[in-house]
Amino acid sequence: MKKSDVVAQLLEGHNRVPRASGQAFAPANIALCKYWGKRNEELNLPVTSSLSLSLGEWGATTSVEPVDGPDTIFLDDTPVPPDRPFASRLSAYLDLFRTQHGYCIRTSSRVPVAAGLASSASGFAALALALDALYDWQLDRSQLSILARLGSGSACRSVYDGFVEWQAGTRADGMDSVATPLDIDWPTLRLGWITLTRAAKPISSRVAMRRTRATSKLYAAWPEQVATDLATIKAALATHDFDALGQAAETNALAMHATMMAAWPPVCYWLPETVETLNSIWHLRAEGLAVYATMDAGPNVKILYRDVDEATLRTQFPSLISMSDGGST
Ligand code: PMV
Repeated sequence: MKKSDVVAQLLEGHNRVPRASGQAFAPANIALCKYWGKRNEELNLPVTSSLSLSLGEWGATTSVEPVDGPDTIFLDDTPVPPDRPFASRLSAYLDLFRTQHGYCIRTSSRVPVAAGLASSASGFAALALALDALYDWQLDRSQLSILARLGSGSACRSVYDGFVEWQAGTRADGMDSVATPLDIDWPTLRLGWITLTRAAKPISSRVAMRRTRATSKLYAAWPEQVATDLATIKAALATHDFDALGQAAETNALAMHATMMAAWPPVCYWLPETVETLNSIWHLRAEGLAVYATMDAGPNVKILYRDVDEATLRTQFPSLISMSDGGST
């Protein structure tokens, strides 16, 4: 099945005539239990379920406007040449929806693009929501989650705020592979990120996932790892057990990186600064501070902590930005 078949199914009977423009915001999200590996590459269907926390005001705002002529894409007010992967990936996604025109896309991102800070998640979720506004489809959030997933897997979780679970689903067409919000409120929990580099990652998550699945012997253990971590994380969220949550999230992230390091050729997103930061976190924890790390497909480190430890952590990590900061990078 192709992406265009899924779109045709979702948009059957819906309006195809655009308004003047559509605009939307979607938050970035950081997975506490990671998605790593696709059972279907075309539709971005995952091997396992995953669970994330959306980053409040940190995300992407995107507007879309039909234009005569080819697509024009602006990132933070700067035009992106059409041959850049960022632009060609967006145009390929827009091909799923266009009738006879191009689009002008303006997107402003509060997270560095392609540095493992979930920019594609907020970007594709914001674009799916903006298209919904442009065409006035009034799709429900499950359907929008599917549309966002066709752009980038983790984007399906960014159509919601708060804690979100992406059910892997079993259907070949992926209609049951959707995100659902979890009814959890944990106002004292903090997720922050320490930006070690803003450089684009050397290898895309798509290629890294493919290589890991195909060549890493450790990948066979990944679904079992996820099943255990997901259950632990959900139980910890329900009881506000911070240490259980942190331990499961950190273990899960390191296990994901272990699977890719055991691939051939090896995939390693870590920089010396990554190891240094992880060591600092482990050292602080040994001294009694409740702080845990998680990492995505990039060298930057995210940390989980409690609001009472905010000041201490800001002293330890001066570049720390927290989801509660609002503001801009
Ligand atoms: O959505 P993608 O293809 O960028 O995959 C990202 C996967 C991780 O960020 C590494 C993990 C996750 O669940 O977000």
